[in-house]
Amino acid sequence: MASAMAKRLDGKTIVVTGASSGIGRSTAKEFARTSPKNLKLIVTARRLDSLNELAQEIKQEVGEGVKVLPVKLDVSSPEEIKNFVPSLPAEFQEIDVLVNNAGLVRGVAKAPEIEQEDINVMFSTNVNGLIGMTQAVLPIFKKRSDGGRGDIINIGSIAGREPYPGGSIYCATKAAVKSFTEALRKELIATRIRIIEVDPGQVETEFSVVRFYGDKAKADAVYSGCEPLTPDDIAEVVVFAAGRRENVVIADTLIFPSHQASPTAMHKK
Ligand SMILES: NC(=O)c1ccc[n+]([C@@H]2O[C@H](COP(=O)([O-])OP(=O)(O)OC[C@H]3O[C@@H](n4cnc5c(N)ncnc54)[C@H](OP(=O)(O)O)[C@@H]3O)[C@@H](O)[C@H]2O)c1
Repeated sequence: MASAMAKRLDGKTIVVTGASSGIGRSTAKEFARTSPKNLKLIVTARRLDSLNELAQEIKQEVGEGVKVLPVKLDVSSPEEIKNFVPSLPAEFQEIDVLVNNAGLVRGVAKAPEIEQEDINVMFSTNVNGLIGMTQAVLPIFKKRSDGGRGDIINIGSIAGREPYPGGSIYCATKAAVKSFTEALRKELIATRIRIIEVDPGQVETEFSVVRFYGDKAKADAVYSGCEPLTPDDIAEVVVFAAGRRENVVIADTLIFPSHQASPTAMHKK
């Protein structure tokens, strides 16, 4: 017998950005596991080979009930975003859920030494990309009854609530995500469109490797003596939020591992 959550997700079309790694990858898998009989998953990122591997893994784990469409998409490119929905096969165009997960941090520099390139990449991906994807998908939602229906799930961060030294730009991008998310929820108050934000604390993914420009030893040091969250921990929250009854909006969540109470309040063994 299917769970209530599996029944609610049955038949949905779900887009996950940044699905080639970490939280996005886990989120795609968790949706597939939760509703394995009839689901369409559009998994996007810049690394198409990783998306193809993910599609294979999902097929092996849950079978043919979940149709996975890997799409190469750089969310920092307004041009690619513009072409995204129109170039989807017709059977994938009726999107029900958008998980705006693609994002990154670059460096730990403090002003005035922050590289312009790093500032541009973080804003164009974390902020402009998330806004662009939202604007691309909302017209699909708004055509539906009751003023529109569908879910936008934005991955924010504790960094958007509590900025820390060496993370000023990343924190500013995640604060922008929070502002955009909250304004959007108010703009869509007369619809059935749910605007959901999930804010993780420390999660072990490729996030720190990207932050340190590929230096794995520096990335590993961030997690030494700690037990960070896994990407599956966040994926479960995302799928839970999408799987609620239509009138229930998990507007906001903040998820820490037990050793963390803020970006800088960390207990190291
Ligand atoms: N890990 C943490 O501690 C933590 C905490 C709070 C919030 N978050 C947030 O969680 C989200 C996922 O990060 P993660 O921890 O899972 O890191 P990750 O393992 O590095 O994954 C990041 C994903 O974003 C994608 N991405 C980056 N730039 C992109 C672009 N221009 N266009 C399309 N996709 C892009 C990457 O794919 P490609 O490289 O293939 O494009 C990758 O799939 C981010 O928004 C991050 O800010 C993470």
